[in-house]
Amino acid sequence: MTSKSSERRQVVRFAFYKLDSTWRRLSAERQASSKIEFGETIESFAGRLLLRPYGLVGIRGDCDFLLWQVAEDLDSLVALQTALNRTDLGAYLTLPYSYLAMTRRSIYEFPEDPGQPSRLVIRPSEARYLFVYPFIKTRAWYILPKAERQTMMDEHVRIGRQYPSIRLNTTYSYGLDDQEFIVAFEGDNPADFLDLVMELRESKASSYTLRDTPTFTCVQMSLWDMLDTLGGAGSVQALARRPTRADGYAPVATLADLPPGASRRVYVGSEAVALFNIKGAVHAIANRCSHARASLSEGTIDAARCTVTCPWHEGVFSLETGQALGGPPSLPVAVYRVKLEGDTVLIAPPVPGEAREPTVAPHS
Ligand code: FES
Repeated sequence: MTSKSSERRQVVRFAFYKLDSTWRRLSAERQASSKIEFGETIESFAGRLLLRPYGLVGIRGDCDFLLWQVAEDLDSLVALQTALNRTDLGAYLTLPYSYLAMTRRSIYEFPEDPGQPSRLVIRPSEARYLFVYPFIKTRAWYILPKAERQTMMDEHVRIGRQYPSIRLNTTYSYGLDDQEFIVAFEGDNPADFLDLVMELRESKASSYTLRDTPTFTCVQMSLWDMLDTLGGAGSVQALARRPTRADGYAPVATLADLPPGASRRVYVGSEAVALFNIKGAVHAIANRCSHARASLSEGTIDAARCTVTCPWHEGVFSLETGQALGGPPSLPVAVYRVKLEGDTVLIAPPVPGEAREPTVAPHS
């Protein structure tokens, strides 16, 4: 028999953070700089793990935000939390809830279930809400014959299919953490999820639930929007104080910060802008994806096509024109003007109708 553990599995962490209110009494400068440090620390892990921020401010009192983390190994989760603990904002955060789990195939058969994602690889959707809870079954469930459990799971799946707008991600915690599963439902309409859960309560399998609380209703938002739900100085507004010159250009980076093949997020005015160095040509486009506002500076660069692919839903944008070339986005993103003065990269807001050539770095 092939060992199941030879399958590629991902480790998943749902970390719910609470901000100490004393942070809101710090100076505006320190609030802004600590948000920027925290956000940039998270962004620096792009490529090492998949990370989705969700806000809970206004929804729950005991936690303020969720970082849904998906990695190939536990070390990446440890490295991220260690880096966050070292930040200024991290000193004001507690972790009231943290759940660890892993992907794996279900032991039950679910043929013809095309609406559900592969159980081994987590691919978050663009849904506005995430509903998360830890789940434990009674020991009596495990004593039942497997065929009987399968029949009850079939009923469960039948009910779920009546709510196609709700997408389920089940991950497994046996032996890794206190619960048996973490279930995370994605959907755009909380009413659909409420109705689904009510109906599932009447299913036969429900009588074998030992625990399925606490339940978290989480709102998907960009990292910077999520940080701004915490209050204090706005991270973007603080950076907007960067001086601009009479010609409208603002220095935002040096070429040393942006070697060929690299990207980074900078600010001009109050706007986040993604800079890319494609074989020495510097491109600047609005950082927020026109689909659901993911950070394009964290996207995947295709140097041959001069495009970036959005990290959330694989929308593709031309770095030369800002046009959406593929995936869900239908609207373009703005293209900023770029010029170099020595080693310094300067950008200015786009001029409507003006064609723009990429700015080529000397010696590139
Ligand atoms: S946020 Fe959906 S494609 Fe970018």
